[in-house]
Amino acid sequence: MPKVTYVYDDGSEHTVEVAVATSLMRAALRNQVRGIVGECGGAATCGTCHVYLDHSTEEFGPPSGDEDEMLEWTAAPRAENSRLSCQLVPTEEGAHLVVRVPAEQV
Ligand code: FES
Repeated sequence: MPKVTYVYDDGSEHTVEVAVATSLMRAALRNQVRGIVGECGGAATCGTCHVYLDHSTEEFGPPSGDEDEMLEWTAAPRAENSRLSCQLVPTEEGAHLVVRVPAEQV
């Protein structure tokens, strides 16, 4: 089962397992990960699941048009590795992903 580690600016981390076909946003909500709200339920319309994806990750393709547009309206500044965690669904069984949760969301 894939794992994801959510990293905070204070150096703390929260690692969880991600069930098959589950987004990083859903995995965060199921495990009470701080700073991921998922207000729109994964429709890419709220931006409350914004994360910074580790640069070494090649697991996901580029953002869709809707995700790309929403990333312009997140509470924390957009970076080139910004993603909506509701749009990130790991497929590799042994994947261990790392994302940083923006301080503005915690
Ligand atoms: S949950 Fe709303 S944009 Fe991801």
